[in-house]
Order: sequence, then C-alpha cells, then structure tokens
Amino acid sequence: MAVNLKARDFLKELDFTKKELAFLLDLSRDLKRARYTGNEVKQMAGKNVALFFEKASTRTRCAFQVGANQQGAGSTYLGPDGSHIGHKESIADTARVLSRFYDGIEFRGFEHSAVEELAKYSDVPVWNGLTNEWHPTQMLADFLTMIEHGRGKSVEDITYTYMGDAHSNMGRSLLVMGAIMGSDVRICSPKHLWPPEDVQDSAHERAEESGARVMLTEDPDEALPGADFVMTDVWVSMGEPDSVWNERIKLLTPYQVNSAAMAKTGNPHAKFMHCLPAFHDTDTEVGKDVAEKTGMDQGLEVSTEVFNSKANIAFDEAENRMHTIKAIMVATIGDI
Ligand code: CP
Repeated sequence: MAVNLKARDFLKELDFTKKELAFLLDLSRDLKRARYTGNEVKQMAGKNVALFFEKASTRTRCAFQVGANQQGAGSTYLGPDGSHIGHKESIADTARVLSRFYDGIEFRGFEHSAVEELAKYSDVPVWNGLTNEWHPTQMLADFLTMIEHGRGKSVEDITYTYMGDAHSNMGRSLLVMGAIMGSDVRICSPKHLWPPEDVQDSAHERAEESGARVMLTEDPDEALPGADFVMTDVWVSMGEPDSVWNERIKLLTPYQVNSAAMAKTGNPHAKFMHCLPAFHDTDTEVGKDVAEKTGMDQGLEVSTEVFNSKANIAFDEAENRMHTIKAIMVATIGDI
C-alpha cells in the first residue's frame, strides 16, 4: 500500500510505522538532491506555518524557516513571549485560532502533553520540534546522516551506541527509532538514567516486529564494540536546573565520548554524532563556567579531541535537520 502522510501530525516516533518513517527518509534524500542540483520544486507555495518555541533553538527553528521558504511557504516565529499561549490563552484555544490562519504548526515546549493538546484541537498538522520526552524531527536527521555515512549499510545493518543521559528526549527517541527501523541500538548510561520502563517496553515490542537488536547497559565495554556510530547529548537538558551539573558530571564522566571510547568500537570508520549544541570546549558561557568549577576544560559529554576529529559528522547531521524537516512539512501539508 502507498504511504500517505497528508494531514498527519508528527508528534513522536511511536505514532509511525517503519514504512512511513522510511518514506520520510526517502523524501528527505530526494529533496536534498533536488536542492543540490537546482531542481527543487516548490510544493508548499501559498502555505503558511506557525513556529512556536517555548525553549531556545538554532537548528530546529532555522530548519523550519528556511525549509518552508525554499518550498514557497511563509512562516511566523513565536518565541517564548511571542504569543498568549499558556499565559492568557489556553493551548486548545490557540490551536483553534491558528488553524484558521495556518496550514501547519510547529511546537517546541516542555511537557509532551502540551504538543498532544495542541494537536488535539488543531485542524492542521502539528509537528513536535522537541519536548522533554521526544525529539522526533532530530531522529529523521540522525537516520539520514547514518544512511549517508554508513558505507552502504542499510538501516537494519547499522549499529549505533548512545552514551550519556538516556533518560532525556534523545535517549528515548534514539532507543525507539532504532527499534522501529530494525537497527542495532545500544543505550549506555547509569541504570537510573535509562529511558522509562514503558518506553523500553515499547522499544522491545517494536524490535520484535522489525528484527532490531536492542541493548541497554551500564557498561561501555559492552556497548561500544562494533558500533558504526557513537552518539551523545548534553548532560543537562533544557529545562533542568543548573544545580544538577555536579551530580551529572560525577555520574556521566565514565560515559564521555573521548578517543578511548571511540577506540573501543574497534571500528576505524566509526563516526561521532551529536544533535548539538555540544559542550566540547570552553568557548561557551556554560562550558567555561563548568570548566572553572570542575576542571573539565577538554569537553564534557564529548572530548575536544573527538569533536575536532575527522570522525565528527555532527555538522552533516545539523544540515540534515533542514532536509528532513522540509520532508515532514511537504509530506503532511505539501502538494505531493
Ligand atoms: N538539535 C537541536 O534540536 O538543535 P536546536 O536546539 O538548536 O534546535
């Protein structure tokens, strides 16, 4: 049966079949190629999208704005203080109003229930630009990047290891996405920072359907051998208090992606991935502050050495945010 994602929301990976996600990855590749060869066709001409950001963003915001523009659509950015949502107007009423103006709505916020509420009352597709629980647009970019750098391997043959705070949206999304797609997924972090049990259960269920190999372990020596890709994310996520830095550093330093960790893959072609922004040196306010307090001046979740190495494909991954987000918009509201 053909895949048709017209008018669908894009809230979390578990809402989709492997075939639907593979369709979005193929469409992303096609749109990227069309852009590169000067053959892009505007499939969102005359449309408009609203972009809500209750948290800061560089990649996601710019990917939606540039992607919409390249496809012929207009966009309106609404920052944390840019609308009445949540303060003077409910999410439900905001959804009802914006559905009269826009063809699609992106939302980045805190609780996942907020984006679910927005989608429930919206008459147009709602796209999750990141919540505390899920980061599904990032997953398409990560998989497109792994396919491109996978030396011809199919998604079913790709092995990736995520190191660090796996209770975060990235830990959950990487676990579930790999399980749906049939990959070899290894989540490596202290046990109490693994994704919640219901997420693990969903991943195991989807892995049974897809043939994915799913590993959750506290031991890098178990998680790293044979990995094609090693990934991590910041140790303190957006919305968490700064006071957790000390505890996280103590807990997660053994999970830093450094040269020793990359060597443990035993794979000379292993690549490093990061959704960004990354704390890999002291050139940021937070990186500098943490380094002054802890002495960790050679990177936190990733070492300066690995970040600056040829193994780092995080900037290709960042570019792919745009091609994949464009695919989500085109598939759900475009003229295809
Ligand atoms: N990776 C990611 O979501 O980046 P931004 O926070 O810059 O959007």
